[in-house]
Amino acid sequence: MSSQDMDIGDQFRGEIENLIGQLQTALADAIRGMDERPALTPGADAALEVLKEPLPDTGCGAQQSIEKLLELNASASANTGGPKCFHFIIGGNTPAAMAADLLATAYETVTYTWVVSPVGVQMELQALDWLKELFGLPASMSGIMVTGATMANFVGIASARQWWGEQHGFDVSETGMAEKPQMPVLTSGFVHASTLKVLALQGVGRANVQQFCRDDFGRLDINAMEQALEDLNGQPALVIVNAGEVNAGEFDPVSDMIKLARKHNCWVHVDGAFGLFARVSPRIAHFAEGVEQADSVTVDGHKWLNVPFDSGYAFVRDHGLMVRAFRYSADYLPAEDNPRPTLGAIGPESSRRARSFAVWATLKAYGREGHRRIVEHCLDIAQHFAEQVRQHDRLELMADVTLNIVAFRFNPGGLTEQELDGLNQKLGEVVIADGRFMAGTSKIGPRTIFRPAFSNWRTRKQDVEEFATVVNELGQGLL
Ligand SMILES: Cc1ncc(COP(=O)(O)O)c(C=O)c1O
Repeated sequence: MSSQDMDIGDQFRGEIENLIGQLQTALADAIRGMDERPALTPGADAALEVLKEPLPDTGCGAQQSIEKLLELNASASANTGGPKCFHFIIGGNTPAAMAADLLATAYETVTYTWVVSPVGVQMELQALDWLKELFGLPASMSGIMVTGATMANFVGIASARQWWGEQHGFDVSETGMAEKPQMPVLTSGFVHASTLKVLALQGVGRANVQQFCRDDFGRLDINAMEQALEDLNGQPALVIVNAGEVNAGEFDPVSDMIKLARKHNCWVHVDGAFGLFARVSPRIAHFAEGVEQADSVTVDGHKWLNVPFDSGYAFVRDHGLMVRAFRYSADYLPAEDNPRPTLGAIGPESSRRARSFAVWATLKAYGREGHRRIVEHCLDIAQHFAEQVRQHDRLELMADVTLNIVAFRFNPGGLTEQELDGLNQKLGEVVIADGRFMAGTSKIGPRTIFRPAFSNWRTRKQDVEEFATVVNELGQGLL
């Protein structure tokens, strides 16, 4: 009997048996090979040409399609979970988190509401409670797991917007914002691009964000912010505190900003996507002192918690605001007053995968102490890399290294600042094309820099020593 004549269920059940063996080998190779695969496989463009074929009428079956996928991954992959990826801010996976996440997929767990996954929902609530303990946030804060810090910012800012409307006497989620006053949003130049995206999506508008900067790096001008708040005369406003900016790992003055905001009628949202992890280590906790007083807080898991993509968390002081901002219901869905939790009704996503499995498993496996060690390992790696930069004549540190990001550039001497910017921009492209390491460039003020971010337990001292040598070698090749 050809597969077309078979019952689809019988066909798939038969395939699954063969797949299990294939998967065992593929997963073992994928996991064991993480340290060795290059950061970026060269020649990806040519290998990916095959991904331009028309939809097949008759498929090739699971085994062949998975073989093809493995082949494509081998010839065009980015090893973002490996020890040599320092681009953006990309964490690794703890062993427990990786295993739990694979199981979440194998069990096809949906954590929309209690009835479709009692364990997934209860585990999310427990994991969120543990995260509050880990970060020293008030136990009374409400929380929700989302895809990442962008969506966690979305939750925090949607709750802020709901509060702002209620301060003016209307319910934004019911009436919308047409013909309403402009919501004032005040922050520093460290504000992350994702926050601006969220403000665009929520009808506030990117251009309406007021950034108070005292220098071209974007550091907060607190006096100017204070004046602007005084000028508001008690009108409700949103203050966004950036606990960790992406170019050198600097922080806004968290405590001072919150103290100032508290003298006025403000909602304080803290974006601590990776910077909130400062609170996990006594060595750097002072950077994020005061966050516990915020109204809403963003933190990412797929960065420094070392759980798989995608995973971020929003914490909001007033649960009722989350309910009013995100409520939705229908006759076939759980009623709003159902005592069992419906997590899909306090956050942006309805159907949601069980991100809780990985978070719960890693916190259970390694606890507060294990996660402090991951953070401190990355701090040590950043310091070790900074030392390499100091030792190489042609590498130059461009900012103090206080967290897990090292801003530096290639500087062979004898070039103007503009020439150095051009050279480092070009070198950034060469490093990516080389593929041994993945790291990107950015700017501090007008200056072009590399900004490797170390957030993965896998990265070893020898990896960053080699990175310094490779940048130096590729830089020389451009002279
Ligand atoms: C400070 C900050 N906020 C927000 C984000 C957006 O995070 P995500 O990509 O997880 O949505 C990032 C990502 O790097 C970040 O560093």
